[in-house]
Amino acid sequence: MDDRQDWEQQRAWVEIDLSALTHNVRQIHSLLAPTTAIMAVVKADAYGHGAIEIARTVIAAGVKWLAVATVNEGIELRSAGIVAPILILGAINTDAQVQAIVNWDLHPTICSIAQATVISKAAASLDPHPDLHVHLKLDTGMSRLGTDWQQAVDFYREVIALPYLQIASLYSHLATADELDPTVMEMQIDRFDRSIAAIGAAGYVLPLLHLANSAGLLVSDRLHYQLVRPGLILYGLCPAPHLHSAIDLQPVLSVRARITQVKDICAGTGVSYGYRFIAERDMQIAIVEIGYADGIPRRLSDRMQAIVRGQLVSQIGAITMDRIVLDVSQIPELQVGEIVTILGADGNVSISADEWATTLGTIAWEILCGFKHRLPRVSK
Ligand SMILES: Cc1ncc(COP(=O)(O)O)c(C=O)c1O
Repeated sequence: MDDRQDWEQQRAWVEIDLSALTHNVRQIHSLLAPTTAIMAVVKADAYGHGAIEIARTVIAAGVKWLAVATVNEGIELRSAGIVAPILILGAINTDAQVQAIVNWDLHPTICSIAQATVISKAAASLDPHPDLHVHLKLDTGMSRLGTDWQQAVDFYREVIALPYLQIASLYSHLATADELDPTVMEMQIDRFDRSIAAIGAAGYVLPLLHLANSAGLLVSDRLHYQLVRPGLILYGLCPAPHLHSAIDLQPVLSVRARITQVKDICAGTGVSYGYRFIAERDMQIAIVEIGYADGIPRRLSDRMQAIVRGQLVSQIGAITMDRIVLDVSQIPELQVGEIVTILGADGNVSISADEWATTLGTIAWEILCGFKHRLPRVSK
C-alpha cells in the first residue's frame, strides 16, 4: 500500500469482503443446473466494489463469463490480465469501438441490423479481418436496446449472413422480474421462447441463450437457459423483499470512516450548513471524515444513522462534501480515530444499502454505484 492510500485510510474507506462474494457465487451456483453458467455483471466498477478484484474473485469461484457496460470497462479488465470472455452490454456504433473490441478481444452486443452492418464493415476494413463473437439482443418488452422480438428471425438471418460476425449468444433483458406481479415477466419469457422457437424452426443452430438478471434467476429455473446474468445478488443484496427466502446472501461492501474530532455543544447550537439542525439539549457530537463526495447521498441529511462501538447513532445537520456530524451523546469517552461504520455491520448491528434506498425512494443499485470515486478499497 502506498503512502497516499495509507493516509487516506486514516479518513474513510470501503471494505470489500471477498469471502462473502465467493459465498454469494456458491449460492447462485447451487440454484443452477450444471449446464447453466454465470455471466457476472461487473459494470460500473462492479457496482462500486472494484471491477478487477471482483472479476478475479468470481472467476476463481467458477464464474465463466463477465459483462460490462462500456468498451473502456472491458479494456480495464483485459489490461489487468483477465482472460474470461467479456460481453459489452452497451451499444457499439463506431469504427474506433470495433477496433478496440478486436484489439482487446471483447464481445459486442448487436442491437439492430444497421448496427451489425456497421460492425461487419468495420471488421472488413481491418487487416487481418477478425472473427467477432457477437451477441444479439432482442427487445421482448423492456423497450430499451435490442431488435423487436417479432423480427427475431430476420434479424438472425441478416446478421448470420454478414461476414466476420459469429453469433455467440441471443439474449434479452427483463423489465419487471423483481416485482410481485409476474404478468410482464411471463410475457417477456413467452416472447423470448417464441423467438427462440422461430429461429430454430428456420433451421438455425441456436447459440447460447440468456435472459435472467438477479431477480429473474431467483424467480424460477425456467429463466436460466445456458447463462444467467446476476449483478446485485453477487454483491449480497436481494432485488426484492419477496425474493429473500430464495437465496442466502452476504453483503460484500462496508463503508467505514474515522472520527476526527469530538466536542460538546450547548442546547441552541446550530450544526453544519444552513443550521438545519439546532441542538435541543447539551450534546456530545463527533465529526466524521466522509461526505457526499465519497458517496453518501446528501439527501440523507438528518435521515441516516451510523454505528459507533456497536451502537446506532444519528447523523445530524447537513451532510457536507467531506464530512458528517454524529450525535454521540450516549457514548462516553469517545476518542479521535475511532472507527464509524457508515454501511455494513459492527457487532450485532448493521446498516444496509437497502435501508438508505428505502429512505430515499431509490434502489440499492444506485446507492452501491455511488461509492466508486474517492474512497480507497480494502479487501479482506
Ligand atoms: C443487460 C443486463 N443484464 C443483467 C443485469 C444485472 O442486473 P441485476 O443487478 O439486477 O442482477 C443488468 C443490470 O442492469 C443488465 O443491464
